[in-house]
Amino acid sequence: MIFPGFLYLFGPHGASRKKAVAFLLAFAIMSMLAGASFAATLTDRDYRYLAEEYGLKRDGPFLQNLGEDEKNQLHAVINDPEFSDVPKSRDANVADVLFRMEIRTCNGRPKGPGEVCSLEPGTPLGERVADLHCISCHLTGTMEARSFYKMSRDGIWDEKRLAAALASGHQMSPITLSPEELKQLAIYISSLSK
Ligand code: HEC
Repeated sequence: MIFPGFLYLFGPHGASRKKAVAFLLAFAIMSMLAGASFAATLTDRDYRYLAEEYGLKRDGPFLQNLGEDEKNQLHAVINDPEFSDVPKSRDANVADVLFRMEIRTCNGRPKGPGEVCSLEPGTPLGERVADLHCISCHLTGTMEARSFYKMSRDGIWDEKRLAAALASGHQMSPITLSPEELKQLAIYISSLSK
């Protein structure tokens, strides 16, 4: 394609010529910006951070299914210079972006318009309970709530401790789950970091 600016540039009128130069400049700047955002996709360091903090594997379904724009956005939030000295806020920002991206997908693929995501048949009870009652805060975590992945690495969340945490003092207290649900939830949480 011939960019129309070239035609103006070699045309006879001075005013058009100025316009053409402005066009070309804008074009050049836009190309530079496009180039820069392309270069800023997820780096090895970003992938290590995402694996370490959120248990997201580089070749896992979530990161594999992200589009180039989403990767650029994630890279920008992970490396936001404004938060380089406040990792806790940076982590919360990343968690927020991840959560928004996560809820736009259904079992690893993009959701259709208006689609309500249902878990795949055969999803274990523990994951179902988490999906229904907990992930809005504990999937990627928030400023106050840790992600189940991080809690999983504590290695302490058996059904007794979960029940105690949910019974009182918890933001959502009381959440009452059956003994079987608690047991399966504990199994699910502990499986996340394995
Ligand atoms: C509305 C948000 C929200 C929901 C939904 C939620 N939690 Fe929490 N959870 C929090 C917050 C915030 C904290 C940290 C402060 C607190 O205890 O209130 C927390 C803390 C916890 C803790 C203690 C973690 C620690 O490190 O001490 C456990 C265990 C827990 N939640 C389990 C669950 C389970 C299991 C569910 C689902 C059945 C659930 N939460 C649903 C917000 C939530």
